[in-house]
Amino acid sequence: MTPVKMLCLLGLLVPFAHGQATHRVGLADNRDGYDSTEYKTQSEAILEQSGQRLPLAEQASVPQLGLPRIAAPLRSEEVDLGRQLFFDRRLSANANLSCAMCHVPEQGFTQNELATPVGDEGRGGRRNAPSLYNLAFQSTLFWDGRENSLEAQVWSPLLARNEMANPSKTAVLSRLTAIPAYQSIFTKLYDEGLTTATLGRALATYQRALISGNSSFDRWYFEPLKKSENLADFGDKAAQGFAIFQEQGCHSCHTFTKEYALFTDGQFHNTGTGLLREERGIMPRQVQVAPGIFVTPRVDVETETFIDKGRQEVTGRSEDRWRYRTPSLRNVALTAPYMHDGSIQSLQDVVKFYVQGGGHDPNQDQRIRPLDITAEEQEALVEFLKTLTASNVDALVADARSTEIGDRDHTAY
Ligand code: HEC
Ligand code: HEC
Repeated sequence: MTPVKMLCLLGLLVPFAHGQATHRVGLADNRDGYDSTEYKTQSEAILEQSGQRLPLAEQASVPQLGLPRIAAPLRSEEVDLGRQLFFDRRLSANANLSCAMCHVPEQGFTQNELATPVGDEGRGGRRNAPSLYNLAFQSTLFWDGRENSLEAQVWSPLLARNEMANPSKTAVLSRLTAIPAYQSIFTKLYDEGLTTATLGRALATYQRALISGNSSFDRWYFEPLKKSENLADFGDKAAQGFAIFQEQGCHSCHTFTKEYALFTDGQFHNTGTGLLREERGIMPRQVQVAPGIFVTPRVDVETETFIDKGRQEVTGRSEDRWRYRTPSLRNVALTAPYMHDGSIQSLQDVVKFYVQGGGHDPNQDQRIRPLDITAEEQEALVEFLKTLTASNVDALVADARSTEIGDRDHTAY
């Protein structure tokens, strides 16, 4: 038995001794006591992750309640290849970081633990990792909308020094080409084999397949004939919250139509978060990189500063300063912390932020102004936001975890 196999078995035996199930989907570490260097990990068990594979490409071709139809059918072999790459740590310079480590399936394909993720060698970034659900319907990418193609987008994390830190596109391609399994699958799927474009295509296709609608809101709102059936599930409190959502104008940016509800207009607005961040002082935050090990990143190595001008960085126009893309509210209960900088911890606090009139930036969108709603109405608003969690979230997590960690046998590259 190889040492790694033995470790895997040990990883499985430890939780068993504590009376927990051996088969699990998700993170093996419970992280109790993670702030101490004495912390003992159980994460070797992650090597044995298992889950239930779904026919994602096939499922994507059937529109889900509350969502539009995808633009083009997905190829199932590309979804499978993309899923494999998404979990493969060998995509990063030090073979230590996969896409899934900042976009954690169990955490709404974002990261609940860190306001702003930590990349290669503990280098920090300045923005919160967005969820990857329903990207198929998004016309611009990133908080500032600087990218609009998922295929091209992947090169941003692959090359960013505070993310996966690869020195060049060629370095990534030659590393993957040296792995026989990838070499053969890319050659089989694409005439041109493994290239910058096909690597982007595979990852994009998997991400496009992460479609998640059919929430209890969708069943209530889009299936009026079954309203009484779906009413109990949605609840009076949520219905009250949805009414407030419209009365208070939330839906003018987090939009929906009679046919579907993306809960984003895809536009860029200043809600006052940029000013608040500046007022707090744009201080790098302390971040934890390992049990009991904390670092304070001095600068964001990409921009040499933590200053973030939002959309202005893309357009160069001063009126776009601190405008950020409206995030979709689908699955929002799973994706804390909130806003482009992860500065708000809970949905209750986001609602409070709006009730107080946002960040009181004189240049903020005029629709962001103090709201005259009671504490009970605020609770109802939160209750409504919680009904936007899709019914297939657990299934998509289990599907994600049906992938073997790419480097499970620690093959060198
Ligand atoms: C170190 C953490 C980290 C890693 C690793 C990482 N990401 Fe991200 N991702 C982020 C952050 C932070 C953002 C937001 C950046 C911004 O808006 O400027 C982001 C944004 C995105 C977006 C845009 C989503 C949207 O709604 O606009 C996509 C798509 C994405 N990442 C996919 C990937 C893929 C694919 C990989 C692996 C090749 C990856 N990410 C690796 C942290 C990470
Ligand atoms: C003028 C457009 C606009 C209006 C009106 C608006 N929002 Fe937002 N919302 C945004 C933008 C832009 C962000 C992201 C701000 C940032 O990151 O700094 C956001 C962020 C959020 C978030 C956090 C989502 C996440 O993933 O981080 C929630 C929740 C939210 N809004 C709910 C509401 C509610 C509830 C209302 C009504 C009380 C409302 N919004 C009104 C534009 C708007």
